[in-house]
Amino acid sequence: MARHAQATLVGARLEKNNDRLIFHVFDNGVGFDPAKAGAKKSLGIVGMQERALMLNGELKIESAAGQGTALTLTIPPMRSIR
Ligand SMILES: Nc1ncnc2c1ncn2[C@@H]1O[C@H](COP(=O)(O)OP(=O)(O)OP(=O)(O)O)[C@@H](O)[C@H]1O
Ligand SMILES: [Mg+2]
Repeated sequence: MARHAQATLVGARLEKNNDRLIFHVFDNGVGFDPAKAGAKKSLGIVGMQERALMLNGELKIESAAGQGTALTLTIPPMRSIR
């Protein structure tokens, strides 16, 4: 985020919902089109996605040009991935 976003505000929040862990990270930077990001030779987001899947989790990225970026990682209770 620091490298791409040119954000003046970055935040993170960890919450637990029915034993699921939900990790939000967001910035108010330049944003981007997540559909196009995957097409480049970039491994950051793809790598996070693969690691989320390994944990039976899910990574969601919401962003658009000029609208900042919000990332949500949801992972199931630890006992179910042991
Ligand atoms: N927080 C963000 N704000 C604005 N643009 C972003 C943000 N995060 C990612 N991007 C855009 O999405 C692209 C893909 O990001 P990703 O982290 O997957 O790859 P990268 O940073 O370019 O390369 P790598 O992580 O492999 O060094 C970036 O090149 C950038 O254009
Ligand atoms: Mg990156």
